[in-house]
Amino acid sequence: MDVERELNALRDAIREHNYRYYVLDEPSIGDAEYDALMRRLRALEAEHPELITPDSPTQRVGSAPSEQFAKVRHPQSMLSLANALNREELAAWHARIRRLLGEEEPIAYVVEPKIDGLAMAITYRHGRLTVAATRGDGTVGEDVTPNVRTVHSVPLRLRPPTGGDEIPAVVPEQIEVRGEIYMRIADFEQLNSEQAAAGEKIFANPRNAAAGSLRQLNPQITAGRPLRFFAYSIGPISGVRLTSQWQTLAYLRALGFPVNDDIRRLESFDEVVRYCEAWMSRREHLAYEADGIVVKVDSFTQQAELGVVARDPRWAIAFKFPARESMTTLREIVVNVGRTGRMNPNAVLDPVVIGGVTVANATLHNEDYILSRDIRIGDRVTVKRSGDVIPKVVGPVTSARTGEERPWCMPSECPSCGEPVHREPDAADYYCVNAACPAQLVRRVEHWVGRGALDIVGVGEEQARLFVERGLIHDVADLYTLTPAHFEGITGYGPKRIANILQGIVASKERPFDRLIVGLGIRSVGETVAALLVRQYRSIEAIMSATEADLVAIPGVGPHIAEEIVRFFRHEPNRTLVSKLKAAGLCTEGTATPALAGAALVGKTFVLTGALPSLTREAATELIEAHGGSVTSSVSKKTDYLLVGDAPGGSKYIKAQQLGIPMVDEVGLRALIGAELSLRAGPRAEGEGQPTTERRAPSGSIVAAQMNLDL
Ligand code: IVH
Repeated sequence: MDVERELNALRDAIREHNYRYYVLDEPSIGDAEYDALMRRLRALEAEHPELITPDSPTQRVGSAPSEQFAKVRHPQSMLSLANALNREELAAWHARIRRLLGEEEPIAYVVEPKIDGLAMAITYRHGRLTVAATRGDGTVGEDVTPNVRTVHSVPLRLRPPTGGDEIPAVVPEQIEVRGEIYMRIADFEQLNSEQAAAGEKIFANPRNAAAGSLRQLNPQITAGRPLRFFAYSIGPISGVRLTSQWQTLAYLRALGFPVNDDIRRLESFDEVVRYCEAWMSRREHLAYEADGIVVKVDSFTQQAELGVVARDPRWAIAFKFPARESMTTLREIVVNVGRTGRMNPNAVLDPVVIGGVTVANATLHNEDYILSRDIRIGDRVTVKRSGDVIPKVVGPVTSARTGEERPWCMPSECPSCGEPVHREPDAADYYCVNAACPAQLVRRVEHWVGRGALDIVGVGEEQARLFVERGLIHDVADLYTLTPAHFEGITGYGPKRIANILQGIVASKERPFDRLIVGLGIRSVGETVAALLVRQYRSIEAIMSATEADLVAIPGVGPHIAEEIVRFFRHEPNRTLVSKLKAAGLCTEGTATPALAGAALVGKTFVLTGALPSLTREAATELIEAHGGSVTSSVSKKTDYLLVGDAPGGSKYIKAQQLGIPMVDEVGLRALIGAELSLRAGPRAEGEGQPTTERRAPSGSIVAAQMNLDL
């Protein structure tokens, strides 16, 4: 093959793989194969530099650092959006557009998650990326072309659309694509820990990280940052006529741009409201930060009729989610000792309301976290609260420093028992290693009496503290030695209350074996692993004598967990504790219990395709993970199930069909969990083979609830 032909073939193949990997999230070759193609292309280009084209996949990082960014005037202003902070404001917006368009006229809406990144305008001439500019003030932005070229999900060259479904089958002569450059939350956290380790700047949130990464004068730095792109609209376009937002998004997708899968076209305002509200809770499960939902009138004719006021189009609005970040003053840093002896630094804050909840304490993780972010006592700090997660201090607002702030360091002694604290060479945490430390014991008792463990009604933090401080108990087994006499003279503890507490303690002896394992508080051993251990070993003695090799052989137990289990039982005081518990009459043997519901899908890999009737993708993923399974993005021989939503037929479906991978719908998924539950709830039959659900279904058939009844 002549060189030019080979170069073109290689570039086409690599472009296609990039598109599959970065845009569709469905790679069809492995990293090694991809690397081999890139290496071949680089080698050929090195031999024939005259044949290098600017849109070659090797040319994402080509230019030298610049002195400063050139200004770019946007040919069409980049607008901003008016906000609706609640349902009423959204309804008021709707009433206004209704009035302007006429009460009778049907209106369709496009709803889009409002990704928190930074807006870009990227121009393509004859299908090639020419200029990429930031939004700037909406009229003039900065030319960041070399940097944007390093973002893999931004095509350097447009894909020729195949047309159909109102999608024009041509590449436009010129098009300005608008969208958001952003960073996923996980990538942002990873970047921050790398930055901290290198002593570099820490970013306050994914938005700042994206902005900071894009506005680098050296594109090599941008290239190393995990930036992504979503396209959501267009500026000037020539050679193609588009008539609606929905059609535009489909066209952008066809040209090779990533378009958010969660975008919907809705035909009634009620649905818009429902979508916005449903998203308030979904937001917690997203891979990226979204600060609201953008609601747009779909038809371009209607958009033109509604027009723009100042900078805000009347045809769109941002329904904003409650803020999750705020600023306040860090008054003190206190150290709490956890049940494993871990020293947890916590921030005492001036109370601040974030998303409707008052926050007065927040986690600071560990000493490295505080030092790498240079968080000082007295600092103004950014505090973040997301969903159920404990609020955390993100970092200081250094511009607000007065010079009065005091650096902090980890105390050298445990604040509870006064023993010296200890840090393993490569670990981030300090521990109080005194087995008799009262603070640790209080936490261990709290854990023991908790819902997921022995669930002792009437005993909580207050009682745990009381028992420990009065020297009534020295380990959790001592709870079972308590008598009414021990409470004598304690104010607030009358006969009835005492009887309740003691009854609660006695009742806990009836709890199944796996709860006792949870209660022991072995690191990394929660309900799922406890249930697996019980199913495998059936008695505490058997678990205690298992080796790491035995343990890792159990699907769902990794080497780290195995190590923790062995370490726990090697420790003599823990073995003594187990004997005491057994002597006290607790249940130290048994078979699997309904708690095994948590393990029904252990070792099973799912791929999701299409929208499910009542579960979001994130909720489905959570459900699968909560039962021990995992979710991956592409179908392979290793996939156990394809979870199919509406309108199956895409590439994942076809591949699963070819490989004969069982398919389940949402009902089927629930049945798998339920079916396994009943299967494992009873005593385990000798020689029980593979769980029934592992059988491969006939090619392409959907395993629904009924089909699992033959268990
Ligand atoms: S549309 C009139 N759609 O929000 C149209 N903007 O305040 C204006 N944004 O600067 C933009 N996701 O950075 C639009 N799906 C989306 C968006 C979105 C995020 C940002 C964008 C813009 C700001 C508008």
